[in-house]
Amino acid sequence: MAASIVAPLQQPITLKLSGKVIPNRLYRTALSEYASSYDEDNVENCGIPQPRYVELYQELADGGAGLICFGNIPICRENLENYNNAILDPDQPWDAVAAFAPAIKAAKSRGALCLPQLNFPGRQVPDFLNKNPKSSSNVQLEPSLLKTYGKPTALTKAEIRDLIRRFVWASETVGKAGADGIVLHASHGYIMNQFLSPKVNKRTDEYGGSLENRARFILEIVHAIKAKLPSDKFVIGAKFNCQDFTEGGSSFAEQCVVIKWLEEAGVDFFDISGGVYTDPAWKGDMAEIAERPVRKERGSFFIEWAQEMKKVLSRAVIGTTGGWRDSHRMADAVRNGDIDMCGLGRPLREDPDFVNKVLRGEARISKL
Ligand SMILES: Cc1cc2nc3c(=O)[nH]c(=O)nc-3n(C[C@H](O)[C@H](O)[C@H](O)COP(=O)(O)O)c2cc1C
Repeated sequence: MAASIVAPLQQPITLKLSGKVIPNRLYRTALSEYASSYDEDNVENCGIPQPRYVELYQELADGGAGLICFGNIPICRENLENYNNAILDPDQPWDAVAAFAPAIKAAKSRGALCLPQLNFPGRQVPDFLNKNPKSSSNVQLEPSLLKTYGKPTALTKAEIRDLIRRFVWASETVGKAGADGIVLHASHGYIMNQFLSPKVNKRTDEYGGSLENRARFILEIVHAIKAKLPSDKFVIGAKFNCQDFTEGGSSFAEQCVVIKWLEEAGVDFFDISGGVYTDPAWKGDMAEIAERPVRKERGSFFIEWAQEMKKVLSRAVIGTTGGWRDSHRMADAVRNGDIDMCGLGRPLREDPDFVNKVLRGEARISKL
């Protein structure tokens, strides 16, 4: 198979604010590793990356992805989206820099950039882990993704300030451990989505109501990280919904406005996805995604929205994740300038070497 067909995917691309170069157009999106400690009797022993965590990122680095995102890392140990994932909580007694450095070193060992994903799940904490979650307001999540969820209480302003402090601390910590930056989990119904969504955010203060108010939380986080970690050195990325695919949730039109605000605030990389727990579009099997002709024709779940979002941006690098399996279709999307990069989740879990095989022209379709 001619490697020239995939030549667009072999091109490096520069993140403009930091000048950091991503050596090719394929990235490993954030995907939970389930490879960190969990101790139901002692929260202090939870979330420490284990040897498998490091091995996994060595395999992914060896596999050739140009940018590697770590799976979501909760920033508060009492609010986990699941067990066995890594945690970055300022109150943990262990040395977080030392705990994360080996995996970050492994991820970067072949020239990829490394962006760990930071998360606060808000109302999406399963009730077997915490019956009293916090959210933008008190709208409870219906049973979804085979779990049930407690009724949340609205975050106070002091708690919002504490969350911002935690995002900054986690960013500084992974920065000290060698990461190129972070990716905020601003999609799939987690806390940033819970502030943006008019369906979930019923606040009447300056964090609710107008779009400007609903976007305040995520923008304050970006500004606070940037104040501590200058953009010329530290990359702020965001996994961001093109829309929530749920009635009354964040719409495509609103997300197009917010993405521009985020770019202006200093976000330099976007990974476009979609959906929330009740309507998990990112899995690709909802009829609304699976049956669309564009999805059948082009492979990707979200390309038609991501390419419109790219037109709104003027500087940031933008990719989309979900459904990419055929390297020729990925190359077409990049060659046409529809998007800058293609994100891969499950294909790299199945075969961490898939990127190398694609870039060498040895494989076209993911075996997944
Ligand atoms: C087991 C599993 C864990 C996931 N964990 C995360 C995560 O930690 N953060 C995130 O943003 N998305 C997560 N996702 C969603 C994926 O990143 C991705 O958006 C989705 O799998 C669609 O891409 P794909 O078709 O390439 O797999 C997860 C998906 C799966 C299947």
